[in-house]
This record gives sequence, structure tokens and C-alpha cells, in this order.
Amino acid sequence: MPRFARHLENQDGPHNPFPGVSALERRLGHSLPHRIGSNEGLDMPHRALTARFGDDIATLARAYGDAEAWLPRQRLGDVLTLDPAALLVDAGADSLMALCLRTLCDPESTVIVSAGTYPTFSYFLRAEGLRAVEVDYANGPGHLAPDLSALAEAAHREDARAVYLANPDNPSGHLHSDADVLGLQNALPEDCTLILDEAYHDFRDDAWTPAANAVWPGVIRLRTFSKAHGLAGLRIGYAIAEPETVAMLMKARIHYAVSSLALTAAMTVLDHPEETREHVAAVVARREVLAETLTQWGGDVLPSTTNFVALRLPSAERAAEVHAALLAEGTLIHRPAHPSLGHVLRISALDDALAPGRLEPLRVALG
Ligand SMILES: Cc1ncc(COP(=O)(O)O)c(C=O)c1O
Repeated sequence: MPRFARHLENQDGPHNPFPGVSALERRLGHSLPHRIGSNEGLDMPHRALTARFGDDIATLARAYGDAEAWLPRQRLGDVLTLDPAALLVDAGADSLMALCLRTLCDPESTVIVSAGTYPTFSYFLRAEGLRAVEVDYANGPGHLAPDLSALAEAAHREDARAVYLANPDNPSGHLHSDADVLGLQNALPEDCTLILDEAYHDFRDDAWTPAANAVWPGVIRLRTFSKAHGLAGLRIGYAIAEPETVAMLMKARIHYAVSSLALTAAMTVLDHPEETREHVAAVVARREVLAETLTQWGGDVLPSTTNFVALRLPSAERAAEVHAALLAEGTLIHRPAHPSLGHVLRISALDDALAPGRLEPLRVALG
């Protein structure tokens, strides 16, 4: 069985027809200051944009970005101790998931997913018309986590093209060790790719060590600037994969999906790792206070390596009642829509969650 979609494996291209002016400058080895062929429209930034957002944003908005994200990939390569050829930048982890499916799957392909995990992945699976096979979470006292052996077993049984694992997981917050994730990859059929969604990677204690950022054969690691870097609204993330896999992904990528503003913003936050670490430490501290509070109220709180705390209620009905009561008070927490995790509630570790009385209906339900 091929590893990638047949039409991508069987031809040299497709090649991006518009890699952008920066890519051309790199290929030519000199700059192109007279850009009268890049079709960007206005001769100057829109004045109203300049007035509202300032010169920098208006200027960035006017021009197409670098489709190859050359500078952000160099910068990421330095930060993560990785060859930039193993990095691909796209419009967030969501966009990367859809890209993985387009690149890996043929119309009849099967993909394995944990029942109730981050639902956008299954939404994309269905939107692509692919066959989804769900496996239950592993469940026990103090433990709710994607079941790695069940995922591997289903991949063999169903002759799957890919397996999706969120690690750390949403909504459980569970982190599998790297050894266990590599064990899963090893246990998969030879041409089955592990799509490893690491949207919460930056909340790991070892997030910035080279070992935690390695290229793993047969694995596409997805990361985002939405969480620890605070750029959710700008839409930018990256994948770590073997260079041959990156090259295949590049064949199917929407080349200007990442705006020039998002590319520049990502470089700016990468230039200030100390601030990112400061934000992450604050989130982790709040998460621990929230977890402790919920535990004292009698909650079945799950360990979390993310920016949220998840807890299990005795039943989906009880969780739905709490969710509805909080909503009526104007407070939105998350309850997974998937029936198998309907008894779970997920609360972001924001200061507002700790405001006195904010979670009162939950406290009452647990008491
Ligand atoms: C597991 C997981 N993956 C991906 C995302 C989305 O990331 P992005 O904003 O980069 O698309 C989220 C956001 O909640 C998430 O929980």
C-alpha cells in the first residue's frame, strides 16, 4: 500500500505556480526591488488600514507572504534544533490536519481516531469523504487517555492509511510519553502515518529540548502558535516531519494560506522566548490552582499537560445540566459533543475561571 495519495506519489508535481517574490529572490541570489509583476493591487497600503493599525500592518497586508515561509522556518529550525527542510508552516494545526488528509489519503482510505478527541479532525475526515474508524479511550480511576494499543490494533484490522493522536490530548489533557508514542508508531502498519497533533506541546516541561522536537519517521507532528504564543486569530502553525514527507505536503498546500502578518508575528514571538515561557508558567500555575479547587469540591479531576483542566462527572446528564446552568449565567465551559465523552467538562485555566462564584453551579453539582 502507498504511504501518500496515489496521484501525488505517481507524479513529479504539482508544483506551486506562485512561490512568491522572496522565493524567487532566493533562487536568483539577488533582490528584486522593482516589483511590478507580483500582482498585488494597490500602489500603496490602504490609508484607512494605516490609520487603524499603523504602517507596519498596512504594509504587510498589502503584499503576498512568502509561500515557503523561509525565514520563520530558519528561525524555528534554530529554536528547535531542526533542519528547516523538516519544517512546514501552514495556517494553524487545523489547516495542517486537513493538509495531512489531502496528502496521505485516497478516496477509499481509512483513518483511525479516538472517539471524542479533538473533533475538528473527524469533521475534516468526513468532509474529505474518508472512512473514519473510532476506538474508545482507555478509562480508569484518575485516567482517561487515547488507547494506544487499541489505535494500533484498529490500524492493522482496518488497513488504515493514518492514525490521529492528540498528545497532549484535548479534551482529556493526557500526555503520553514520547517512548509510548514511538511505540505506537512502531506498532502501526508500515505505510500507515501517525498524525500527531501537538497543539499543546508548549505546555510540556521539556517542550524546548531538542529531544522533544525530533523528526520521527512515519510521524507528522503538528504544532500551533495559537495556544502558548497567543496568535490564534492570526492562524499559523507548523509541522515537523521527514523532509520527503514535507515535500509531499508542499504539493497539496494552499500556498498563500498563511498571511504575511502571521509570518511576521510568528517570528516576533519566536524572538521573545522568555515572554512565551513566562505566559506558559502563568497558565500552568493557574491550571494547578484550578485543578486543586475542583478536587477540593469533590471533582474527578484529570491530570493535564495543557492550558485547561478536564473533569469527569458521574453521568453525561449531570455534565449537561452543569453546562447549561453555567451557560444561562453567561459562562461558557466546554462539554464534548461526542456521546462517549459527554460526561467530561473542560475549563480553560484563565483568571476568570478562578473568580469567586464563577463556577458555582459546578461546585453545587460536585458537593
Ligand atoms: C488538539 C487541538 N488541535 C488543534 C487545535 C487548533 O489549533 P489551531 O488554532 O492551530 O488550528 C486545537 C485547538 O483547540 C486543539 O485542541
